[in-house]
Amino acid sequence: MFPKNVNINEVGPRDGLQNETINISIEEKVKFINLLSLCDYKYIEVGSFVSPKWVPQMENSNIVYDKILKNKKTVYPLLVPNVIGLHNALESNVQSICVFATASETFSKKNTNASIEQTKKNIKEILKIAIKNNLKIRAYMSCVLGCPYEGKVSYKKTASLAKFLINEGCYEVSLGDTVGFGTPLETQKLIDEVSNKINYSKIAMHLHDTYGQALANIYASVQMGVSSFDTSVGGLGGCPYARGASGNVATEDVLYMFNGMGINSGINLKKVLAASKFIYNILGRKIASKTACAMISK
Ligand code: HMG
Ligand code: MG
Repeated sequence: MFPKNVNINEVGPRDGLQNETINISIEEKVKFINLLSLCDYKYIEVGSFVSPKWVPQMENSNIVYDKILKNKKTVYPLLVPNVIGLHNALESNVQSICVFATASETFSKKNTNASIEQTKKNIKEILKIAIKNNLKIRAYMSCVLGCPYEGKVSYKKTASLAKFLINEGCYEVSLGDTVGFGTPLETQKLIDEVSNKINYSKIAMHLHDTYGQALANIYASVQMGVSSFDTSVGGLGGCPYARGASGNVATEDVLYMFNGMGINSGINLKKVLAASKFIYNILGRKIASKTACAMISK
């Protein structure tokens, strides 16, 4: 019934830190990612090539990418919103990128100043060049289980946009519950609709834990046959253009659940905790992962 193996995609350095307003130095980011690289992830999202006016915390992503020690088992993607971002990625010799879209017209404009149609054109343009340059391309879709501006977002529209992203050359679509509105049965209805258009093996889940539903939604997703999940070390995170969005589901909590279910991720929980302690010490607050807190208090 459940898969034997899952992919855990670590998004802490990008989705986790993009909303932080304190100055985190390049050296601190590099040390943080180097600690994550010791955990044997297949995927660590390093940062983004977006406008520094929109997301100041990600401004030095190119330098961070250049300086980190790269584990051969890991891919280190960065988020790209347009062709300017892609050119910056290519200049930095990045091997892997993520593009992003949403079926919510309002969120699209708030997040990237572009309509859904314009975003599709931008993505086509990005992918044409990225594929020629042999980049590995992943896609995100935001607000799949609800939008802070529009409320319910059509699962059918999300499913068609997911199909577009796969047809254009993305290897996987990560379905983002940006503000954590989702509950388990809605998560399953969404996956059911999307899997009518793309194969389960191309679906990942990216669940923010704003309402404390993320673990339950992961359980509901894995029951449906999804085996790729985005998590954020210590539960870091939030989206600057989705007020009220809290962090992603904490990596430690997801690993604890999967380990207990006998589902293998290949990731070392104790080493994840070391990275979590390091970054939360810099942020000056308590780790937002129940598993991490329980492990520390032992
Ligand atoms: P814009 O203001 O419409 O851009 O922003 P523009 O094309 O009008 O250009 C204005 C200026 O920005 C120009 O410079 C451009 O060169 C520059 P100027 O002539 O004024 O000196 N510019 C750039 N600079 C650096 N990198 C670029 C870039 N593009 C233009 N790529 C833009 C449009 C898309 C750039 C902006 O809206 C933006 O950066 N948005 C990104 C917002 C963002 O990062 N959001 C968070 C990530 S998505 C997310 O978190 C959700 C996810 O986690 C899944 C989930 O949870 O749902 C993935
Ligand atoms: Mg996110």
